[in-house]
Amino acid sequence: MNIEAYWGLKEKPFLNTPDTRYLYESEDFVEAMGRILFNLKEVKGGLTLITGEVGCGKTLLVYSLIEKLPGSRFTTIKLINPKFSPTQLLRMIVQELGDEEPPRYRTKLMEKLQSLLIKSDKKNITPVLLIDEAQAIPKRTLEEIRLLLNYEDKKKKLLQIILLGQPELKKRIQEIEQLNQRINIRYHLRGLNAEETKKYIKHRLKIAQAKRKVFTPSSVSLIHKLSRGIPRLINTLATNSMYAGLLLKKDIIDEPLINEVYKELIQ
Ligand SMILES: Nc1ncnc2c1ncn2[C@@H]1O[C@H](COP(=O)(O)OP(=O)(O)OP(=O)(O)O)[C@@H](O)[C@H]1O
Ligand SMILES: [Mg+2]
Repeated sequence: MNIEAYWGLKEKPFLNTPDTRYLYESEDFVEAMGRILFNLKEVKGGLTLITGEVGCGKTLLVYSLIEKLPGSRFTTIKLINPKFSPTQLLRMIVQELGDEEPPRYRTKLMEKLQSLLIKSDKKNITPVLLIDEAQAIPKRTLEEIRLLLNYEDKKKKLLQIILLGQPELKKRIQEIEQLNQRINIRYHLRGLNAEETKKYIKHRLKIAQAKRKVFTPSSVSLIHKLSRGIPRLINTLATNSMYAGLLLKKDIIDEPLINEVYKELIQ
């Protein structure tokens, strides 16, 4: 028997995947999204920095943003594992903007990028470059990002850039003062508070169409304490305790079970 069948669910509610159907709009999430949209739609200032603890929802935020931005006004370019050189970065952007065979050399690439950005602007479409896991960008490529902000007209940057990454990204950017100064919106995501953790668990169970109670209230408080409200850890604890509960034929998941599961997880 699988955990869905045992706990009376349509599907597994706590998978660690960026599935926006399961999105819980925490205070932090709403604030981060609000600031990103404010920069994209109102300020058009070019560079947004979103940092956050490991597993707190940055990648899910990227997916949600892409879903939210109307294709008639924005075109999104999403880059992950950004361990590329400055020229590779330029080439990827040019390619994503529609040039299937980008020029090889840097000067030509920059000219091409400029013409593509102007073309897009004439159509009233703003290209948005989203770089997830930006803490992995090599320093010289980070410096290049500053140059990408030089494409502008009197009112706005022609390319909007959003960098998302783990806390060390903040430090890495601080070391490049010319880039740091150009960040016009920033936000740091944290874990959920106790109340939000409760709502988060309830929300995910609801989406998975739970027909009965799965966790006691005190087990939810314990999940919050052990996970520090970090969604990825909440998910892992919840899934593992649902599995343990199945094996032990439990009617409901309680504190002792969560403690047992946690001990095994951190071994
Ligand atoms: N607001 C949320 N609503 C619903 N689920 C969430 C939320 N935030 C995070 N999650 C869940 O937690 C998992 C981990 O989140 P995510 O991968 O977005 O974290 P991250 O900040 O990108 O982590 P990393 O620093 O390791 O890249 C997601 O796959 C998702 O299942
Ligand atoms: Mg991530």
